[in-house]
Amino acid sequence: MKILSLESSCDETAAAVIEDGRKICSSVVNTQVAEHGLYGGVVPEIASRRHTENIVGVTEKALADAGVTLDGLDYLAVTAAPGLIGALLVGVSFAKGLSLATGKPLIPVHHLRSHIAANYLAHPELEPPFLCLVVSGGHSHIVSVDDYTQFRILGRTRDDAAGEAFDKAARAMGLPYPGGVSLDKEASKGDPKAFRLPKPHVEGCPLDMSFSGLKTAVVNILHNAEQRGETVNIPDLCASYQNVICHALVDRLMVAAEEGGYHTVAAAGGVSANSGLRALLDRECKRRHLRLFVPPLSLCGDNGAMVGSQAYYEALAGHFAGLDLNAAPSMAIDDEF
Ligand code: KG4
Ligand code: ZN
Repeated sequence: MKILSLESSCDETAAAVIEDGRKICSSVVNTQVAEHGLYGGVVPEIASRRHTENIVGVTEKALADAGVTLDGLDYLAVTAAPGLIGALLVGVSFAKGLSLATGKPLIPVHHLRSHIAANYLAHPELEPPFLCLVVSGGHSHIVSVDDYTQFRILGRTRDDAAGEAFDKAARAMGLPYPGGVSLDKEASKGDPKAFRLPKPHVEGCPLDMSFSGLKTAVVNILHNAEQRGETVNIPDLCASYQNVICHALVDRLMVAAEEGGYHTVAAAGGVSANSGLRALLDRECKRRHLRLFVPPLSLCGDNGAMVGSQAYYEALAGHFAGLDLNAAPSMAIDDEF
């Protein structure tokens, strides 16, 4: 089964052709990072405009690279939630147009489900059930993947997502956009024990976390130093900050794995590219004899291939959409279209 899959939920315009949910025939990603970098973050209006300009070319290239025409496809798929409303609407409208023109059925895909599915592309042996740490710019969840289209959220952030926490702290430290990547690089040169920072704990909810206090602590350290005319050791602050975030995520994931009797855990989303997080996951999973799956760096960020993988399983479950499909900017992973 060949699926053309489209992604435009944030600042990447992407398309891919995926066979039977596991094989990448082609994958094209057009990133807008350089342009949004001028403003220190994603500007939604610019993102929508660039998606509109790029989506045809990206789709044509994905088809050409895969050596297929629209006729050779079985289904079309598109990220329809969650994300920036204007950005999502570009992909959804384009996919509906393609569906109308070709008569191919349309599969709506949830963005976080597709991040999880990035693992299926890289690891043929991975099958549900497993426990997944889903960490992106907009979400931080501990998710039980009971089946390919059945999810339960066991833990979540109460405020900022992990990626957002990385980005906001990086910005306060004057590091270049995208902040998470810059902070990761600086952290590799620093001492993770140099600064004492608050733990992202939520009273009475052991699997939930809260990152906003942690970010405020970093901002206060920077302001206090500035007022005293002192300089802050940025690599040390990055290493300490990254260390607290990674421990908060991995400690909770390990508790959830133990409580739920899981043998397999995975990570997904842009933050799963973080080197500190990958190292800590590796260490803690080995210690507990858990099988660990993380996507290759090329599939951690937003891409169309992961959308095509999840779409295959949505199609097997009969989850299709009509031309009345709308973008849903804040739909939960366990909701249906
Ligand atoms: O999944 P993603 O590409 O887009 C969303 O769905 O949000 O995630 C983007 C997030 C950004 O916050 C970015 O700073 C973060 O992932 N990120 C990282 C790293 N690479 C990307 N955060 C920490 N360390 C990294 N190496
Ligand atoms: Zn994403």
